[in-house]
This record gives sequence, structure tokens and C-alpha cells, in this order.
Amino acid sequence: MSKLPLDDLLVFSRKVVLTAINRALAAKRPVLALDGTAGNGLDTEFLARAVEEEGRVLAFDIQEEALGRTERRLAAAGLAEAGGRGLSARVRLVRDGHERLKYYLEAGQEVTAAMYNLGFLPGGSADLATTPENTLVSLRELAGVTAPGGVISVHCYTGQAGGPVEAEAVRAWAESLPWSDWRVLRYDFCNKAVNQEILYLACRLDAS
Ligand SMILES: C[S@@+](CC[C@H](N)C(=O)[O-])C[C@H]1O[C@@H](n2cnc3c(N)ncnc32)[C@H](O)[C@@H]1O
Repeated sequence: MSKLPLDDLLVFSRKVVLTAINRALAAKRPVLALDGTAGNGLDTEFLARAVEEEGRVLAFDIQEEALGRTERRLAAAGLAEAGGRGLSARVRLVRDGHERLKYYLEAGQEVTAAMYNLGFLPGGSADLATTPENTLVSLRELAGVTAPGGVISVHCYTGQAGGPVEAEAVRAWAESLPWSDWRVLRYDFCNKAVNQEILYLACRLDAS
């Protein structure tokens, strides 16, 4: 984390996600982290380290290429066996859309922290980018299973085709979360004239 530039939105995302995971670990609650868009696996690796031995990570991507990259990253980091897709005790890589999240959760299972880095696989096809429809289905589902004290991080990009529409859909979703249960932070670069990025951090309140 210390190598990241200080103005990177990822810093804010990671701090809040790590805080939620550390609190759950300290309280000996079950820890499940979700990477909604595995891509190159940077977030999956971060989550796999954050949840420690006790926690679990579920990482989705619709592209074999992305899961292959993620798997190789995890293997290089000693967090998964190369070629052992889904077999690592800590991380499960899922080749499916995040909109089908509910099929991968056990009854009553809650999510401690989730990261969505929207858009397309760097170096990959823009046709396989996230979509507002699937992203919304997934985020709505996720909000219903986020643990008290849990967090959903969504990084939106507006520079690619479809990006502004998706960012707008995420904004509406974020604003719809009830104040009684959620606090949603929004970060952006107020001096970035083109290709604006927006980070939403939806934090579920913890009554305990
Ligand atoms: C910007 S990349 C993610 C970057 C990644 N978080 C990282 O650390 O490298 C977006 C990824 O979302 C994936 N994607 C697109 N639609 C998806 C869906 N419905 N469910 C899951 N992943 C999806 C793309 O295949 C792409 O790999």
C-alpha cells in the first residue's frame, strides 16, 4: 500500500476495506471478501492478504483471460497454487458474472468487504466491460448480504463507452441506500477535466 501514489483513489478504497476486514477479524466474525471484477487480480491479491488465514475471498470475472492473470498473480504471491482454479482454501476464482453472486453464497452468508473496479480488462476488449444492468443487479444483491460494519467499494470510470451511464447508475444506487443503515462516501478528482473517476464507499452501520 505504501507504494501507491497518495492521490490514487485506490488508497481510500483499500483503507476502508482493510478497516472493515480487520474489525471483523478482531471480533472473530466470519470474514468473506468479494472481488466483483477480478481483472488483473490486484484487488483479489489485496483481499487475499487482508483476510488472513481465517478469511475467504470470492473473485468473479466473466473472462478466462482475467482469471488466468489473477491466478498467476496469486500463485506468484504464494496465495494459490498455479493451475488450481478455485482450489485454494482462501481464494475462490469464479468464472461467472457478479450479477449471479447469490448462487455462490451459502444460506445466511454475509460479505465483509467487496471491491468493484468497473470497466474493461486493461489490454482486453472493451466489448467485455462491465454493464450498468449487471452491475446494478450485483450491487443490489450485495447490499442485502453485506455484514454490519461491512463495506462496498465501487470505482467508476467515465472515459470509455458506456462508462458515464454506468457511473450514473451507480450514483443512483449509492444515493438510494438508506441513511438509517448506510453511510456512503464519494471521492473524485475535482480538478480532472476529462475521463472522470468516481469512487463510492458504501459502509453498512454496525449496531453492536
Ligand atoms: C477494470 S477490470 C478490473 C480490474 C481488477 N480489479 C484488477 O485489480 O486488475 C474490469 C473487469 O470486469 C470484468 N467484468 C465485466 N463484466 C463482468 C461481470 N458481469 N461480472 C464480473 N466481471 C465482469 C471484465 O472482464 C474485466 O476483467
